[in-house]
Amino acid sequence: MADSTSTLRNRRPATSDVAAPAQAPDSKKPVKAATSGTLALFFLLLGVLALLALAGAAAAYIYYQNPGGYFWPEPQEPWVAVPGATEWTVDFSADLTKRDAIVVAFKHAWSAYERDAMGDDEYHPITKKGTNLTEAGGIGYTVIDSIDTMLLMGLDDEYARARKWVETSMNFERDANFNTFETTIRVLGGLLSAYELTDGDELYLERAIDLADRLLPVFDTPSGLPYSQVNLAQRVGVADPDNRGLVSTAEASTLQLEFRYLGFLTDNLDYWDKAENVMKVIRRARLPNALTPIFMSSAEGKFMTSEIRLGSRGDSYYEYLLKQYLQTGSVETLYRDMYDDSMQAIHENLIATSNNRKLTHTVEIHPRRLAQNSQISWVRTLKQDHLVCFLGGSLMLGATTAGARTRPVSVPPRVEELSPVGRRDWTTGVGLVETCVDTYRTASGLSPEIVHFRESFESGSDWFIKDAKPPGEPPVYDARYILRPETVESLFLAWRLTGNPKYRKYGWEIFEAIETHCRVPSGGYASVLNVEEVPVTWEDKMETFLMSETLKYLYLLFSDDTVLPLDQYVFNTEAHPLPIFSPTTLRSGFTF
Ligand SMILES: *[C@@H]1O[C@H](CO)[C@@H](O)[C@H](O)[C@H]1NC(C)=O
Repeated sequence: MADSTSTLRNRRPATSDVAAPAQAPDSKKPVKAATSGTLALFFLLLGVLALLALAGAAAAYIYYQNPGGYFWPEPQEPWVAVPGATEWTVDFSADLTKRDAIVVAFKHAWSAYERDAMGDDEYHPITKKGTNLTEAGGIGYTVIDSIDTMLLMGLDDEYARARKWVETSMNFERDANFNTFETTIRVLGGLLSAYELTDGDELYLERAIDLADRLLPVFDTPSGLPYSQVNLAQRVGVADPDNRGLVSTAEASTLQLEFRYLGFLTDNLDYWDKAENVMKVIRRARLPNALTPIFMSSAEGKFMTSEIRLGSRGDSYYEYLLKQYLQTGSVETLYRDMYDDSMQAIHENLIATSNNRKLTHTVEIHPRRLAQNSQISWVRTLKQDHLVCFLGGSLMLGATTAGARTRPVSVPPRVEELSPVGRRDWTTGVGLVETCVDTYRTASGLSPEIVHFRESFESGSDWFIKDAKPPGEPPVYDARYILRPETVESLFLAWRLTGNPKYRKYGWEIFEAIETHCRVPSGGYASVLNVEEVPVTWEDKMETFLMSETLKYLYLLFSDDTVLPLDQYVFNTEAHPLPIFSPTTLRSGFTF
């Protein structure tokens, strides 16, 4: 669930409205305010015509931005029974044939990388070359991201060579700026997970400490929110020059599993406290409706007026609220409260159903300033990033933990085992997983990077690729599939929580599409530029999350359920498993 700096999860250009501290979009009356304002002014005879014209222009503009979607959705009541409780036999034994096929795929990816680019940060399978994130040299981006998958798959030879490389060649003394979040989730997370899965190979802990000490200065900001970049050699945090020095909400709030676990392992509470402090700042910055815009100011510790979405720059904030709660054995109820608060806000504002087949999907809310010095209006857009597909599985996991009346719940959970909120989240989660699988029903069987949905009164297919070009023309950005893991991640969680064989079936279909269209015969896997065009056109890049996430979650989907049980591990947002633990002295439970 992550991207490199060039294709950063956060790659979408920053909205030009990022400027002022956020005004909370009021879920009851954003755009209607134009109407009521106009009504009030009706009694002021002077200037009434001019104001009416302005309001009309505003409505027309917003309508143009999002036809039909310029009113806010009424909160729905999705408290429905858990669908299909026991229509299948739960059997978690491994599917060895399929599991082994995933291992073959991993070897195909790794062996090409090792042959052509061992030690380089990133791999390009068409030109058979590696590159580093910066000219200062590599930081083990691909090697570290892949190690725990090798350990899980039992690839001893590959693992031995990767470990050797870490021992002899990996070096963080790189005088250049690296993305704080990406470095943490991929490299620090990967090292900690390797430490865990090797039962404590000190090499990984040493390297993790070295890296974390270089990262730690990012928290030295006026607010405690981290800088989004870090110079690893100089050990200084650097404000993001591309986004006016702002940090995205997900970047600030997706470091905690890693730093907390390292704090626990080392008893160096600096790691823990600085990461936890970020959560305090975010909690204090809460907007009245609990929605979280995607940008924050490290200087002020406040949300900035910016887009509200569950995709890029927002996604893993929600994921880590739940996982921080789970990581320490569900005793830090403060995180569960923050999670519940967020899920409530999401259900009131960001969940919708499509026109024909009533697919559950998410929407975004964008700020629009109609004229200089005018009020911000909030516009709903029926856009969903592939990144959002983590949410289905996450909601199901949350429903069976934070939303459970008793724990553990049955597999699949029985309605009476879930609280009303748990049932709501379960239902939404199950629906979102189906929707994400549906977005793979394309010419290639691969999902686009971004889809748009249609409102209930519109005609046409439930979702589409915006501005899609016909085959042969240069495709739009949204049409690509870059080996992303979020849907198979949710399928893995849904499988473990239900035992419903349909989730294995879906996962296998996705894997077959990857094999058919992304596999480069000479080695490695490539991204596809247009999922609706077959034969496909490749982009010369194999994202590191193919080996750390996509193939790992697929492998786990076909393994038996004793491999990384969900009540003993949390996965960081790059799919690196970290153990659930009980801190000897509970560090958290911060209060206000
Ligand atoms: C990446 O960095 C490493 C370490 O400095 C170096 O050995 C390697 O040649 C670099 N790779 C490329 C493609 O520049």
